[in-house]
Amino acid sequence: MPGQLLAVLVLLLQPLGTQESQCPIPSIAHGQLSSAENFTFGSTATLQCDPGFVGTASTARCTHSGRWYPRVPSCTPGQCRHPPSVEFADFQPRREFPVGTTLSYSCRAGFSLIPGVSPTITCLQNFTWSAVPRLCQKVQCPSPAIPHGTETSPSRAEYTFGQQVEFQCDHGFMLRGSDRVQCSSDGIWRPPVPYCDRVCGPPPKITNGQHSGMGFTQFTYGSEVKYSCAEGLSLIGNKSLYCTSEDGENLTWSGRAPECRAVRCPKPVVERGRMSPQVFTFPYGLLLHFSCEEGFRLRGAAQSQCLADGTWDPPVPTCQPVLCPPPQVPFGKLKSPLGEQRWYQTNETVTLECLPGYQFPDNGMMENAWTATCLPDGSWTPLPKCMKEGDADVCQEVHYIKSTFECGMPVEKVKSLLEIQKLFLEIKKLEMELEN
Ligand SMILES: *[C@@H]1O[C@H](CO)[C@@H](O)[C@H](O)[C@H]1NC(C)=O
Ligand SMILES: *[C@@H]1O[C@H](CO)[C@@H](O)[C@H](O)[C@H]1NC(C)=O
Ligand SMILES: *[C@@H]1O[C@H](CO)[C@@H](O)[C@H](O)[C@H]1NC(C)=O
Ligand SMILES: *[C@@H]1O[C@H](CO)[C@@H](O)[C@H](O)[C@H]1NC(C)=O
Ligand SMILES: *[C@@H]1O[C@H](CO)[C@@H](O)[C@H](O)[C@H]1NC(C)=O
Repeated sequence: MPGQLLAVLVLLLQPLGTQESQCPIPSIAHGQLSSAENFTFGSTATLQCDPGFVGTASTARCTHSGRWYPRVPSCTPGQCRHPPSVEFADFQPRREFPVGTTLSYSCRAGFSLIPGVSPTITCLQNFTWSAVPRLCQKVQCPSPAIPHGTETSPSRAEYTFGQQVEFQCDHGFMLRGSDRVQCSSDGIWRPPVPYCDRVCGPPPKITNGQHSGMGFTQFTYGSEVKYSCAEGLSLIGNKSLYCTSEDGENLTWSGRAPECRAVRCPKPVVERGRMSPQVFTFPYGLLLHFSCEEGFRLRGAAQSQCLADGTWDPPVPTCQPVLCPPPQVPFGKLKSPLGEQRWYQTNETVTLECLPGYQFPDNGMMENAWTATCLPDGSWTPLPKCMKEGDADVCQEVHYIKSTFECGMPVEKVKSLLEIQKLFLEIKKLEMELEN
């Protein structure tokens, strides 16, 4: 039914009532049309979007056919442009920046946020970004100044990320650690800032000798240098020096360096003596031991050392012949016509006799002279005993018993010996009685 369809179309296109010369007032989300001419046919309206929104067109015209041209414009959310770039800072990348978006900047490595500054910006309703101040500053490292050291690189008021510093220690100090450090992005020097350690300078030099630290100029606390002398020379003094401290602060060498000198002690001459070790040279420090031949004894010290001044200390001893004192025999005397001497030499002999009324014990030989010889140890060959005549037999028994006691014989044994002795004497007595 084409007639009916046409009627509907006519109905739809028919402007309503008395405002038929106006375009319909459109409803626009986030905006509105405004016109001074009440949207009458042929008038132009301006699209005004709410803050933060933008129109697809700025104006619309109400046509004579009662429609808007372009077709009713709309307001869409507005966007900011790409955010401003901030020195030494970055933000999370994204594609769009609708009004109201808040972005946060972060400082690049080696930079830090300036204290009290907000790192965020917001897309405002006029499609501009809120103002952004300077956000980031270079990371600073603490001053790398070290005691007893200097920076060889020009020193600065402040030290920022990436800067390098080189160090040198004052005279008398040694650098411990790396001589070059760099300010890291986290504000720390890497490798760590070195320090200057006290050192000893070269140890004293000596003439005709050398030390083990040759070629070095700095010696750490506790270092030892050993000295040695040229061939044939003696080292006098301490063989080693140590880098040490006397005041707890400054370092020095532990003492005076030794000397190298030709020190020769004279060959010791000890008549009738011997020495060890058997050597042919007698340099400083040599220690000799002395002894004497048989029949002689040392007078002086048994050992002596060669001193730095070329003398022996204590002095070299001598060997003196061993002498015997006059032999002492109770109730005896010397038979020698020369009479008594003060001392007798080794191998010298004397003849002894007993005083009248005394005799030597009965040894089978009825001699009345006894010869004794002076021994190399200063004693005499066994000396005789002079006993009262007649007492000899008894004395001999007493001496015998005494000697058995002195031997340390057990008491039981001595007892039985005495029993035997008693029996023997009783038998002798019986025999004598029988004879009479
Ligand atoms: C617009 O319409 C209003 C009322 O609808 C009327 O008061 C006003 O006079 C009109 N203005 C113009 C310019 O026609
Ligand atoms: C946008 O708005 C802010 C705050 O309302 C204002 O300070 C700024 O000047 C405006 N920018 C422009 C380009 O109008
Ligand atoms: C270490 O040596 C310096 C320079 O010679 C001196 O000024 C300082 O007093 C010394 N320190 C001590 C503890 O003696
Ligand atoms: C040798 O060293 C010791 C210990 O270090 C020291 O006491 C002595 O004085 C030194 N002797 C000399 C001659 O320097
Ligand atoms: C003593 O005599 C012995 C043996 O006759 C002899 O070997 C020794 O050298 C002599 N001693 C002395 C000091 O004359």
